[in-house]
Amino acid sequence: MIPVVNRNPAVLVGLDFGKPYHLEDLEEARELISSAGARVAAAVGGKRAKPDAATYAGKGKVDEILAAVQEHDVELVIFNHRLSPIQIRNLQKTLGVRVLDRTDLILDIFAQRARSHEGKLQVELAQLQHLLTRLVKGWTHLERQRGGIGVRGGPGETQLEIDRRLVGNRVKLVKERLKKVARQHATQRNARRRNSTFSVSIVGYTNAGKSTLFNRLSRSQTYVADQLFATLDTTTRKMCLGDEGAATISDTVGFIRELPHTLVAAFRATLEETIEADLLLHVVDASHPRRDQQIRDVNEVLSEIGASRIPQIVVYNKIDLIPAQSAAGNGFGRDEYGKINELRVSALNGLGMDAVRFAVQEYIDGRRLDSAQQDEASESIETTHAPASGMAR
Ligand code: GTP
Repeated sequence: MIPVVNRNPAVLVGLDFGKPYHLEDLEEARELISSAGARVAAAVGGKRAKPDAATYAGKGKVDEILAAVQEHDVELVIFNHRLSPIQIRNLQKTLGVRVLDRTDLILDIFAQRARSHEGKLQVELAQLQHLLTRLVKGWTHLERQRGGIGVRGGPGETQLEIDRRLVGNRVKLVKERLKKVARQHATQRNARRRNSTFSVSIVGYTNAGKSTLFNRLSRSQTYVADQLFATLDTTTRKMCLGDEGAATISDTVGFIRELPHTLVAAFRATLEETIEADLLLHVVDASHPRRDQQIRDVNEVLSEIGASRIPQIVVYNKIDLIPAQSAAGNGFGRDEYGKINELRVSALNGLGMDAVRFAVQEYIDGRRLDSAQQDEASESIETTHAPASGMAR
């Protein structure tokens, strides 16, 4: 499907419903919009007790948005919220321009970034499933996307049914193709497991520095850019751990607040690498004003995909940007069981990389010890339960 945000100036809308709407929320929305290739011509904020059922923003605010649309002559309004199909339909009617919500925006960025065959399929699936939720009476989405999936015809009930069927068929096809790719991945993972290679997955909020850390640890050249979601495909490499140890390390897609569910579901194959890892390196931009919230957001997605029980080290990255921490140097913290659970690094200038390797090696040694103890325990159970020779049966 064709990305819609690219190159368009837009009016950004971010509203506050009781809990304070952080400036950083708006800042993140601006970053998302610029990552999508557009620019914010004007931003409209404000307070409301609760979202309006028909237009989300309410009459007065919609008038304000309309004034901004006309003043800046834009053809796109982006809400940094999740809107219902009805709200979008009503807003588009009143404003006379295209209206996107946060989910649309993130899907659009993903659509622009997808490079691999699998990545493209995953994004297409997410877009189609999102589109299915949007196919309500009077919604002319497919009309506007003509050329995207090649549907022609006017609005109306019958057209709606045709649209649903066409999208449904395409969903089936894309799912089949994804299944095939997932099987290939599973084979590769099984091979790694048979060799019992310790696997480390890098997770974290978008732009936290995951690819930079990955490059440092694997000495490879993954694309690094100061934009959101530069990496969409999981890349797995060997991690250099010195003479004895070996592990694989995977760089994964960035997480974000309110990552659309359709995306999480569609990216299951990519995220499987994460679900099956032995250890997660959770990279955090330590210099970010909302780093604690970002940690919670990432943990939420991790629990959504079933990865919350995997051991995790929080890697506070970019400490070069925090003079006090930088002066204190890199270092690690341990939990109440003595396991390393925190590291401070600067992936950009290489500070703390030895500590990361040391920590991973310690987990590998820990696993070896655990499995040796398990073997010993099961041997002793077998000995205890083995019938003594010569005993009558
Ligand atoms: P996504 O692919 O969007 O999820 O991003 P990512 O988490 O992989 O981040 P990436 O490695 O692409 O880095 C994002 C930006 O942060 C780039 O401009 C990096 O150069 C910068 N960066 C990464 N690590 C550090 C660091 O330790 N210090 C500083 N100052 N910048 C860093």
